[in-house]
Amino acid sequence: MTAQGSSIPTGNFRLLVADDWKDYELLDSGEGRKLERYGDYRFDRPDAQALWPSTTPRDSWKPDAIFAAGGDKSEDDERGAWSFPSGSVPENWPVAWNGLVANARCASFRHLGLFPEHSVHWSWAAERIKRAARPVRVLNLFGYTGMMSLACAQAGAEVVHLDASPKSIGFGRDNQASSDLDDRPIRWICDDAMKFLQREIRRGRQYDGVILDPPKYGRGPKKEVWQLSEGLDELLGNVRTVLTPDPLFVILTIYAVRLSYLSVGQTLASHLSGLGGGLEWGEMTLKESRSDRLLPTAVYARWGSDLFGQYSS
Ligand SMILES: C[S@@+](CC[C@H](N)C(=O)[O-])C[C@H]1O[C@@H](n2cnc3c(N)ncnc32)[C@H](O)[C@@H]1O
Repeated sequence: MTAQGSSIPTGNFRLLVADDWKDYELLDSGEGRKLERYGDYRFDRPDAQALWPSTTPRDSWKPDAIFAAGGDKSEDDERGAWSFPSGSVPENWPVAWNGLVANARCASFRHLGLFPEHSVHWSWAAERIKRAARPVRVLNLFGYTGMMSLACAQAGAEVVHLDASPKSIGFGRDNQASSDLDDRPIRWICDDAMKFLQREIRRGRQYDGVILDPPKYGRGPKKEVWQLSEGLDELLGNVRTVLTPDPLFVILTIYAVRLSYLSVGQTLASHLSGLGGGLEWGEMTLKESRSDRLLPTAVYARWGSDLFGQYSS
């Protein structure tokens, strides 16, 4: 130790960059906004992380749709309304990634029906499923658009996809049909994540891979309250219990709460100790297509049986 404190170089910290898209592009960001292309349409949305000046002046952005924040304008308040200056945005339209097709749409709460920054985890999970060369069972909790479920099924896994919202389950099924994966074994379940895990533990059902993208606050179908700060530790304990003796991966992503990746990573590490393998963690980002600037979107931690490093468990 020196009088200046110490600095720890970590081998397991990674900035993940979702730069593997043709149908999606982050065109510019700045002044608390971002300009993106989803397929043929351009969208101007709020983004509290984009504190810097935009590369091109905002009045030259020419978006097809603009989301104006309502509510208290804080990062966690996603209320507001869309406007459509070009009048050309359809109700939904296809956005493709690696053979999968999501039906994008201007959803309430400023979303567009898919989260492009997640592609870094879709390909990471798919790679491990293919490499395992054995039957693989995957559980996708808080699954919403279903793109992760589709990527795992496309790679050959049997998937259980869970979300508390019947509407979200409908979107996931539509994406399965648009991706021509109707013949793949995906069970779409509308349930509360914690209750479902407790039931799976009682039934002795196990999974080789688990993905979780829990919101800060949510409700199960029977109004069960989900609160990340209260529930994450118990949820991860349950995830550990439903893992097979020889699991492949666990992926945890968190939006909307400004938790450090260290908090997320160390919590996951504490639940997976003794499993072998290793962990990596950091931030998920989108790269501007016309500059090197990275826009942070979420924190993540993921465990892989094939990983090795400082935080091997
Ligand atoms: C952040 S989104 C997940 C996005 C997803 N990773 C994707 O790429 O589409 C959170 C999802 O959690 C669901 N949810 C909220 N509370 C829940 C609960 N108690 N049990 C299960 N799902 C819940 C919501 O319906 C929502 O679809």
